[in-house]
Amino acid sequence: MQHEIDRTTLALNDQMDTIRRMEREKMEQNMAQNVMITGTGRSYALGYNLVLRYLEAGDNVVATVRRESEALLRLKGEYGERLHIVNMDISSTESVERAAFEVEAAIGHLDLLINNAVLSALGMEEDFLHADMDSILETFNVSALGTMRVMKAFYPLLKKGEGMSLIINISSEAGSITKCFRSNYLDYAMAKAAVNMGTMTFYNDTKDDPGINIFCVHPGWIRTDGREENPVPLSPYDAAETLRLLFEKRRYDKEGHRFITYENEDYPF
Ligand SMILES: NC(=O)c1ccc[n+]([C@@H]2O[C@H](COP(=O)([O-])OP(=O)(O)OC[C@H]3O[C@@H](n4cnc5c(N)ncnc54)[C@H](OP(=O)(O)O)[C@@H]3O)[C@@H](O)[C@H]2O)c1
Repeated sequence: MQHEIDRTTLALNDQMDTIRRMEREKMEQNMAQNVMITGTGRSYALGYNLVLRYLEAGDNVVATVRRESEALLRLKGEYGERLHIVNMDISSTESVERAAFEVEAAIGHLDLLINNAVLSALGMEEDFLHADMDSILETFNVSALGTMRVMKAFYPLLKKGEGMSLIINISSEAGSITKCFRSNYLDYAMAKAAVNMGTMTFYNDTKDDPGINIFCVHPGWIRTDGREENPVPLSPYDAAETLRLLFEKRRYDKEGHRFITYENEDYPF
């Protein structure tokens, strides 16, 4: 038993050494990119773990939140100037535009924007015929329109990047109309289908621009509710690294299918 624990500790130490080396090399070679991620305040969820993974990889990160997060403040203590915490409520155009000014002043440009923030209404586990239609509007305003607001407001900052800037919209298999199997969670599914449509519309508008690219991504089944006993297979920390590597792999692909999974497979719209 003790040997098992020692081996696990050694493996973890090796992993941390590799992360620190990557971080150092990237900074020494001045290859750090500017990354912005929305919805990052919960330490057990995907957004925060993406922030952590990009910081560990040596990048500069703008982490947006709609309220103060102690977990992010602790990261700020560790990573200092490389982490900018910005308040942004994506349900408000004014808040998003204000945040864009703030980010431009702080960091100048963006190389990667990850739209991760999401909202879903309570009670939506009810089937279609029993769902409260009036509670769908807020989900839609945050998860779908909020994503579009952020893309539009931060587009000029992405265009100021030197290489191929990238927008990643975190979608879900639940947004696929072709593969739809549920009769519930109508608000979430409709909002994600709309995110996919917005992704394609932006793609069509910028297809001939060699300086910007976009994908929508199903990130996999991830334990993002903070419950240890959750049987869902992926930890948010592992999932975040899988996604980070995937985004770099697809950054320059302007021809392939736009809706992909965390396993780098095409997914039907
Ligand atoms: N977990 C999975 O298995 C899974 C599967 C498929 C897709 N996804 C997608 O992956 C992404 C991350 O999932 P998650 O479970 O980690 O998300 P989450 O924890 O439910 O929420 C992400 C963040 O969105 C923020 N948010 C809500 N309303 C906002 C607003 N008006 N303005 C700004 N931020 C707002 C929340 O902020 P507060 O902390 O302030 O509430 C929260 O921190 C989501 O897009 C989700 O749809 C997840």
